[in-house]
Amino acid sequence: MIVTVTLNPALDKTARVDTVRPGALNRLRDVTLDAGGKGVNVSAMIRALGGESIAVGFSGGGAGEELQALIAKKGLRSDFVRIAAVTRTNLKVVAGDGTLTEFNEPGPEIRPGEWRELEQKLSGYGAKGNIIVLSGSLPAGLDADTYQKLSVMLRGAGAAVFLDADGEALRRALESGPDGVPDYIKPNRYELLQYFGVTDDGTVTETRLAELCRALIGRGVKLAALSMGEAGAIFVNGEGVWRAPALPVQVRSSVGAGDSMTGALVRGFEQGLPLERCFALAMAASAGACTTEGTNPPSRALVDSLLTRTRIEKIA
Ligand SMILES: Nc1ncnc2c1ncn2[C@@H]1O[C@H](COP(=O)(O)OP(=O)(O)OP(=O)(O)O)[C@@H](O)[C@H]1O
Ligand SMILES: [Mg+2]
Repeated sequence: MIVTVTLNPALDKTARVDTVRPGALNRLRDVTLDAGGKGVNVSAMIRALGGESIAVGFSGGGAGEELQALIAKKGLRSDFVRIAAVTRTNLKVVAGDGTLTEFNEPGPEIRPGEWRELEQKLSGYGAKGNIIVLSGSLPAGLDADTYQKLSVMLRGAGAAVFLDADGEALRRALESGPDGVPDYIKPNRYELLQYFGVTDDGTVTETRLAELCRALIGRGVKLAALSMGEAGAIFVNGEGVWRAPALPVQVRSSVGAGDSMTGALVRGFEQGLPLERCFALAMAASAGACTTEGTNPPSRALVDSLLTRTRIEKIA
């Protein structure tokens, strides 16, 4: 079973205006709502590939109810902890020329009892054979070691953990020791370099990036999938390094491409596909995600057609 965890989900409200006018009244039109959150995106990708997952997270107030209803409308199963504070709504305003202006709320504060409820729920999912995907930012009220604690608990229970986080939350999780560290991670280039304190002046080579990933394998991570946007991806495990160029596609929105990569990888793992097939699926799914509006996943048919064009090369 795959479980995705979104601790700081949002109701995404998208609207249009001709021009954004600061200091004036802007009348919004074509207002639409969508379920936002990286774990939800991962679940949507898994479903597009014919798999199933349960989306877990916090939801509060009317916005939280709407969020859960939208998740259900996508055909996804969810198991949320209801909280006292209200789920945030993030506003994305698209101007006539296509420029995007975003207004993001900080998100609700999680109370200690609510956190314990979530922890308990997850511990129920922490069985051997299950894959738990932890992704995205942490809400107020939860410490930077939250993913570390979850990773240690879930791995202790026999589950595999996939983490997609950045900054302090990633750092703490990677310092959990070989038995508690996440099994799988998917940093992008910026997140990996930030973790190692390397300034990205554009001269960092792929050989160097692969070395940094290898250092993480040395700490107990089983697979590091380094995504590099339109430059493709590098996959590193204890056996070697694989390189995959990005597939040429007509890009509509690359937001959430990383989540699609994560979803495809865990779906491939769950099906027991050979590793290189998992990488190929990840490349096809993430490129496909770039061709859709917003964070919508690509269709299975598009992924299948892109799969015929993927190239995975073992370079070390
Ligand atoms: N312009 C593009 N053309 C083709 N494939 C792309 C493009 N941008 C991204 N991808 C695919 O998506 C993968 C993930 O992209 P990226 O590195 O931007 O993820 P990310 O920064 O984690 O994104 P997010 O967190 O918004 O989901 C890339 O490794 C690549 O396979
Ligand atoms: Mg990402």
